[in-house]
Amino acid sequence: MRKLRWTLGLVLAAVLLAPVTLNQMQSSAQAQDAGKDALHEAMSTIDRNLRLLRRSLRDKNKNAESLELIAKMQEAVVVSKSAIPPRAAKVAESERAAFLTGYRREMAELLALTAQLELAVLAGDNDKAQELYEKIKATEEPGHQKYAEEGTN
Ligand code: HEM
Repeated sequence: MRKLRWTLGLVLAAVLLAPVTLNQMQSSAQAQDAGKDALHEAMSTIDRNLRLLRRSLRDKNKNAESLELIAKMQEAVVVSKSAIPPRAAKVAESERAAFLTGYRREMAELLALTAQLELAVLAGDNDKAQELYEKIKATEEPGHQKYAEEGTN
């Protein structure tokens, strides 16, 4: 009899707790999706603004436009910097902290490069600005190889 009560108690607890656990699982999956969407949107913004900068940086008369593009790119780098790349979930738990630190460091370096680009444009040094554009562009491939899920280049 006591055993039956125990079993019934356990079943009842499982039934009562199931929706809570399911809800938690759903909201954590939603949070992950939201983070993923935010990163993808931010990366697309970096991509779009960088493409426009490639042209505008060649022309000193377009420096005001370039500064606007750089500002938008910097905002997107800041958003990307605090996002968690989806690949982190696939990294062994023992290596995850190092993976996330590495990602954060590269993003911080990218942000620093965009600040150097801004300083070059503000100084009217478009040759330097074009060199920095190349440096920024060169972060894409190794960054994706290390931190993006397969297929993003
Ligand atoms: C400045 C050059 C870069 C450009 C133009 C660029 C562009 C992009 C683009 C177009 C995407 C795909 C977005 C989408 O899903 O529509 C993407 C995704 C991504 N990028 Fe970048 N990126 C750059 C630098 C970096 C760097 C330096 C890192 C890492 C340190 C990085 C990490 C990622 C990650 C983690 C994703 C998400 C892909 C996934 O789902 O795993 N990117 N990037």
